[in-house]
Amino acid sequence: MDINPAFSFTLKGQAWPGFVGVASGTFGYAKEYDGLSDFTKIGAVFTKAITPEPRLGNPPPRIVETPGGMLNSIGLANVGLEDFIRDKMDFLRRIPSAVVVNVAGALEEDYEKVVDRLEGVEGIWGYEINISCPNVRHGGMSLGTDPRLVEQITARLRGRTTKPLIVKLSPNVTDIGDTASAAQNGGADAVSCINTLVGMLIDLKTKRPVLPLNTGGLSGPAILPVALAAVWKVSRRVKIPVIGIGGITRWEDAVQHLLAGASAVQVGSGSFANPRLAEEVHEGVLEYARSNQLKSLADFHAMAD
Ligand code: SIN
Repeated sequence: MDINPAFSFTLKGQAWPGFVGVASGTFGYAKEYDGLSDFTKIGAVFTKAITPEPRLGNPPPRIVETPGGMLNSIGLANVGLEDFIRDKMDFLRRIPSAVVVNVAGALEEDYEKVVDRLEGVEGIWGYEINISCPNVRHGGMSLGTDPRLVEQITARLRGRTTKPLIVKLSPNVTDIGDTASAAQNGGADAVSCINTLVGMLIDLKTKRPVLPLNTGGLSGPAILPVALAAVWKVSRRVKIPVIGIGGITRWEDAVQHLLAGASAVQVGSGSFANPRLAEEVHEGVLEYARSNQLKSLADFHAMAD
C-alpha cells in the first residue's frame, strides 16, 4: 500500500496508513466487515469497547432510528478481555490498519486491567479510553464529564503504557474544552471528539421511552454540526491532535472536520448503511486536497485559521 506520509495520522512516531478510522462500536472486531470493506483504505480500526469481563449489554431494543440519525443503547456489550485476545486479535493482526483498542469499564481499575493485559499482546497500535459512553450506570460518561476524573484516569493509564493514548470525549458537558484540557494534562496523546449525544424517543402506544434505560446515544447526520463545533473549540484549546468524529456520512463531512481542526477522522454509524464509507471518505478527501492544492493534513488547518 502506498500512502503518502503527509496524509497519515501520526502519534508518538507511529503512523496510521491514512487518516480515516472506523469508530468503536460501529465496526465490530473488524472481521465482521471482511469482504465488505477495503482495509487498505482504513487507517485505523477502533475496536468494540473491551472490558475485563464479558458483558451482555442492555436489554433490547438497543438501536432505534431517529430523524437524521440513530439512537443506541448497547451498554458496552463485548466478549471480554480474554476472549478478545484469543478470538479476535488474529484477524486484527492481519489487516493493514492500525488497531486501536477501545478500553472501557465500570471502575478506574477496570481500565487499568485492560491496558495492563493488552500491553503484552502483539499487534495493538494504541488505546482509546472510553469515558463517554452514555448507556451504562457505572463508568462511561460518569467518568468523562468531570474534568478532575478525566485527568485522574488519564494519568493513571498514562503511567502504564508508552503506546498512543487517546481519550474519547463526551459532548454531554457544559464546556468540552475543559474535559479536553484535562485529558491533555493527564498525558493523553490525542482526543477523539465526539462520542454520542444523550437523546430519547417515546413510544406513543406504551407512552414510555423506547430504549431500556430511557435514553441512548444519538449519532448520524443530525450531530455533524455539534461535532464540528466541538472539534473547532477543542482544537483551539489543546495542543494535542483532535480526531474528529460525529455525523460523517459523506467525504464532504470529513473535509469539514479537517477544516475545523481535526488531524484525522473516524467514520461511525455511517458504516452501517454504507460499509465502504471509510474508503469513500479516504478517496474523496484526497481528491479534495489535490484539487485545492493542499499538500498535507496540516494544510487543512492553515485554511481554517
Ligand atoms: C454502548 O456500548 O452503549 C455505546 C458505546 C459508547 O457510546 O461508547
